[in-house]
Amino acid sequence: MDNIQALYQKAMKFAGEKHRNQTVPGSTANYLLHLSNVAMEILVIYIESPSFDLALAVQTAILHDTLEDTDATYEELEEQFGMKVAEAVLALTKNPTLVGKRQKMEDSVNRINALGPEVGMVKLADRITNLQAPPAHWSQDKRGRYLDEAVFISEQLTGKHAYLEARLRDKIEGYREFV
Ligand code: NI
Repeated sequence: MDNIQALYQKAMKFAGEKHRNQTVPGSTANYLLHLSNVAMEILVIYIESPSFDLALAVQTAILHDTLEDTDATYEELEEQFGMKVAEAVLALTKNPTLVGKRQKMEDSVNRINALGPEVGMVKLADRITNLQAPPAHWSQDKRGRYLDEAVFISEQLTGKHAYLEARLRDKIEGYREFV
């Protein structure tokens, strides 16, 4: 197995520099808060069931928003982290030429499902992390749409990792109190 600690640190440094001006929505915390939480979900489930490529999953978790939110390029990711990580991050990135949130999500989910389970696991971990109490300014409508989107992800991304899938279903049930 590759040295996970070194891969984690390299990906965190890259992400930390790329996301340096970004904060977590509804918080003043630096965006690394979100990325480290997603990586943490992956590390914890590896203890539960070490049945997947941890190096791929952890690097993808840390880098998953770099193409969508920063000036990072696919080529840069491929050169620094390899083709599998770059492909995974690309699948987790919404296609900006599509119109409508739902269409973008469906397209991304299809591309995620065409790759190995690690990519879907990062999407599940991402949504688990994001299903905390919503920002106070979010309308009832927005909360409802966010919940619907989480249900869609939960229904579409199956066969990835049983524990993570069950954890997302639990988080969805918990989120209903905010809607
Ligand atoms: Ni994310």
